[in-house]
Amino acid sequence: MTGEVQIFFTYTLRRCRVIKKYSVFLVLFTFIFGIGSVSSWASEDEATAKELTILLKASRAVLVQNKPLIKNPTGAGIGVDQFMEFTMANYEKMVGSKFSMADGAKGQAQKILIDAIKGVVGDVVSGKDTKLDPNGRFLPAIFARKAASRFGEESGGKMYLKLTTQDKYLVNASNKADAWEKGVIDGKFLNADWKKGSTHSEMATHDGKKAFRLILPEYYKAGCMGCHGGAKGAGIHAGKTAGKVGELGGAISVAIYK
Ligand code: HEC
Repeated sequence: MTGEVQIFFTYTLRRCRVIKKYSVFLVLFTFIFGIGSVSSWASEDEATAKELTILLKASRAVLVQNKPLIKNPTGAGIGVDQFMEFTMANYEKMVGSKFSMADGAKGQAQKILIDAIKGVVGDVVSGKDTKLDPNGRFLPAIFARKAASRFGEESGGKMYLKLTTQDKYLVNASNKADAWEKGVIDGKFLNADWKKGSTHSEMATHDGKKAFRLILPEYYKAGCMGCHGGAKGAGIHAGKTAGKVGELGGAISVAIYK
């Protein structure tokens, strides 16, 4: 071997080592970056889904706070704008800061839900939508069902929102938990060691489509018992069981399709 060839070989060998050394970094970098981008993507979905649950709760609470709007929605003197003002005041109390429109996917979701809420309230208070409870009452859960399903429609099939509950306390069959929701409610939320109020989320499927799913548990309070507790509760629940204060009485479920 001539000196020149030898130099060439040594050089190539060294270069190979350098590439090898850097390839470790390259693999590591891709791995860390890859994981990072997946988790930031998931955390954006998590933030969007949580925001939807907060907005739904903040708006539903307006009915709880304004009994005349439940009993006589067309005559209560509360219009869409005032309903939204009350909603945003509730939102601020819940979150600790004023509502603001976000950018990107979260902002889009906020807008679709706000529009759905306005649409539902507008239709009910104007008398256009009279499909309420048998006594003509605009119950919080009826509002939530209408706003959630309108949100799903207006998202153009991109997102889904629903108020559901455990099977034994179900009132309206169209609010029945699907297999995934039932799995989380029965398998996690009803576990004695589940941290009360904490959500569960994961990548799963919904309606046969891949989706980020999040579900938030809710519990019966004294104010719910007039309808969900005692003989009345047993009468309206599919499972013929009376609800009790502190028990899991509902769940807000979100899906964001991928
Ligand atoms: C005035 C009676 C009344 C009160 C008070 C009431 N509910 Fe309901 N609730 C109903 C009725 C009626 C439905 C069925 C609504 C529908 O048609 O979707 C319902 C539905 C629900 C649903 C949806 C799932 C299902 O069973 O269809 C949840 C969750 C729920 N209620 C939880 C609560 C909680 C929690 C409270 C207290 C914060 C409460 N409700 C207070 C009457 C009431």
